[in-house]
Amino acid sequence: MNQDQLKQLVGEAARDEVLKLPAGQVLGVGTGSTANCFIDALAPHKDHFAGAVSSSNATTERLLKHGFKVLDPNDVGIFPAYVDGADEIDPAGHMIKGGGGALTREKIIASMAQCFICICDASKQVPMLGNFALPVEIIPLSKGVVTKELEKLGGHVTLRLAKEVRADLGQTQSQPFVTDNGGWILDVSGLKIANPLALESQINQIAGVITVGLFAKEKADILLVSNASGVSRISF
Ligand code: A5P
Repeated sequence: MNQDQLKQLVGEAARDEVLKLPAGQVLGVGTGSTANCFIDALAPHKDHFAGAVSSSNATTERLLKHGFKVLDPNDVGIFPAYVDGADEIDPAGHMIKGGGGALTREKIIASMAQCFICICDASKQVPMLGNFALPVEIIPLSKGVVTKELEKLGGHVTLRLAKEVRADLGQTQSQPFVTDNGGWILDVSGLKIANPLALESQINQIAGVITVGLFAKEKADILLVSNASGVSRISF
């Protein structure tokens, strides 16, 4: 089975998991290629839910295309479940997220859910977080000062660039990647994250940081993980 098939498999398992919820609830929906598989698998059952709360513009677009009702997070209270992928997940359910740049809204929506259901293929499971560069969303004018602070923590910091060069906008080289919130992203490599909760709190306190892509306080409650022999369900 290739990675796309594994993502599809776990997307279907997440669909079955959320369909166990009573009808008429709000559902939180994440961002990324695995979350997309979940959205596509859930689409025929969209009427089971009162609506979805989305974690990015890309996810909103996909949900609307399938006919889901997309709700404003300010109009909903706590809801039972948030389903999203991860870039890395450790044995306690702490995650690195933000490879797709949606970390801030993902963390907000995750904080509104009673249960974070993480979905991924087994390649995302690691003994300790940190091989995947840690994304940190920042206010653009703080790039210099935040970079210095992150380097003090032992990280190697790179400004994330947009993939395309827009010649039609007069761009001659890649520009910073801009998030849905107008922020920039610093990717921090070289960290071995032994204490995710402490590091999350420490990075959150640097002036200019919007969100760090460490999900320790908002860690996974349930992990659905796929490999060649099927999907395992782990509760933390
Ligand atoms: C989006 O910003 C991320 O947090 C994604 O949830 C994460 O990068 C996993 O994405 P994939 O499912 O595409 O690997």
